[in-house]
Amino acid sequence: ASTAATSVSVSGDISSQLHGGYSHPLARSWQAERQLTKSMLIYPLFISDQDEEETLIPSLPNQHRRGINKLVPHLEPLVRKGLRSVILFGVPMAPNVKDALGTAADDPQGPVIQSIRLLRARFPSLFIVADVCLCEYTSHGHCGILRDDGSLNNTLSVDRISDVAMTYAEAGAHCVAPSDMNDGRIRAIKLKLIEAGIAHKIVLMSYSAKFSGCMYGPFRDAAGSCPSFGDRKCYQLPPGGRGLARRAIHRDIGEGADIIMVKPASSYLDIISDAKEIGKDMPIAAYQVSGEFAMIHAAAAAGVFNIKTMAFESTEGILRAGATIVVSYFTPQFLDWLSS
Ligand code: PBG
Ligand code: ZN
Repeated sequence: ASTAATSVSVSGDISSQLHGGYSHPLARSWQAERQLTKSMLIYPLFISDQDEEETLIPSLPNQHRRGINKLVPHLEPLVRKGLRSVILFGVPMAPNVKDALGTAADDPQGPVIQSIRLLRARFPSLFIVADVCLCEYTSHGHCGILRDDGSLNNTLSVDRISDVAMTYAEAGAHCVAPSDMNDGRIRAIKLKLIEAGIAHKIVLMSYSAKFSGCMYGPFRDAAGSCPSFGDRKCYQLPPGGRGLARRAIHRDIGEGADIIMVKPASSYLDIISDAKEIGKDMPIAAYQVSGEFAMIHAAAAAGVFNIKTMAFESTEGILRAGATIVVSYFTPQFLDWLSS
């Protein structure tokens, strides 16, 4: 007997029928190549040389600059919720600490080295990344050592930055991440790590594709690292420079980087995709920078969208583009959101 079912069976085009594949929330999650997990997140921390400091950064919502005595109480609940990694930025606040060479960057009593030691001791499962740059420590606020004409002296900068990276690694950082954008620093750091016999246990994460622009303002408020003259356009990449970014990624892989980072994230998704293609055998990190974070907060406050929904949506875009690691100021909130 003929049934109604047979009569409707093949009248339509079967390949046009997609809805069934994502009708259920779980089936929807299966559509993503990568889903956000707690272990993908790196949480940025600003560490002041004023031991008791805990200052809210007005331009960077809910983020603080903290002294070393405020660090463990802040992190304890987060580690309990599943925080796996932090990236440390030192902020010298004391007067007369900054100089032309960024001498304070590797001060053994300085906030970065002291907090590496403290966090290693107090949170044995926490993976500690040390950002390596001079801009927080130089009197002129640039990311290296300057020539008389105000341009970077690349050779002196790379010598100095690779020394600073070594002191962070020797203090116990699991990963050193140079963000200065001087040419050749990955090779210089890798060679010093090899020479010191610690290259086998230190991850070298390169800010390879770090673009110049207006997205780092809140960070510079937090870190006190705004250049006192000029800008960073002659070392950070021009925003339109996709080919240049690809060359920088190729170069840093060749120089011994273990992880490639792209920064900012959401306006550079094509670059993240390029990094994943060029570094297809490597982890790819994306830094959702201070300006992106502040923009999302401002838009949510203006009623444009719900902040949690947008935090997930922006991160899904970053993962879809190819990132496997996300540096994000949303990390504490994601630890809650990913638990519920
Ligand atoms: C320092 C550094 C910066 C950021 C990370 N490392 C600022 C800059 O280059 O001026 C930016 C991070 C952010 O905006 O969240 N070299
Ligand atoms: Zn810098």
